[in-house]
Amino acid sequence: MYGDRGPGCQRGAPTSRYSYSADACYTTGVSKPDQSGKQVYHDGQGYQGEMTAKILVLNGPNLNMLGTREPEIYGAQTLGDIEAACRTTATSLGLAVEFRQSNIEGVLVDWIQQAPKGGFAGLVINAGAYTHTSVAVLDALLSCDLPVIEVHLSNIFQREEFRHHSYISKAARGVICGFGGHGYRLALEGLAELLNKGN
Ligand code: DQA
Repeated sequence: MYGDRGPGCQRGAPTSRYSYSADACYTTGVSKPDQSGKQVYHDGQGYQGEMTAKILVLNGPNLNMLGTREPEIYGAQTLGDIEAACRTTATSLGLAVEFRQSNIEGVLVDWIQQAPKGGFAGLVINAGAYTHTSVAVLDALLSCDLPVIEVHLSNIFQREEFRHHSYISKAARGVICGFGGHGYRLALEGLAELLNKGN
């Protein structure tokens, strides 16, 4: 299996890299203790070792469907394509990324709550539709004390009115929308800049 299941993900079986049963969630790249108890980063693609700053990239509901989901709005890239591009960008910035997707609000909340203890230095989040509905995701972000960049593939302000309001933005240092999958890479660049400047 590619990657590990994240906290709170006991059920559901992956059917392909980004295609999961409704109660499942998915993560690639994890830190695990080695024999001496030291945390070692595994990127899910063979790399194991130390990383300086680790960024958690969270994706909410329906983003596992990218590639086939309304491509005229979200583009042809799959979430796997976006993740691969993020890894390249992260490496060039001296960062490591851990990429996760869940359709479940509570799983996203758990991941956000656990991010500081997990050794993450920052968070990129595309909360999907929870952007427009979830006080729970907002509250988790407000309490996690990490720099947060909010990303949307589409320009949410050009779309239906209910997409114009984001609960998440109140907790975000920056918001990027309308650049498709490239927005995630812009978010990593923004975070690198913030981290280099000491937040
Ligand atoms: C989205 C925009 C949201 O309104 C929508 O519900 C999504 C994707 C985006 O990336 O453009 O699922 O977050």
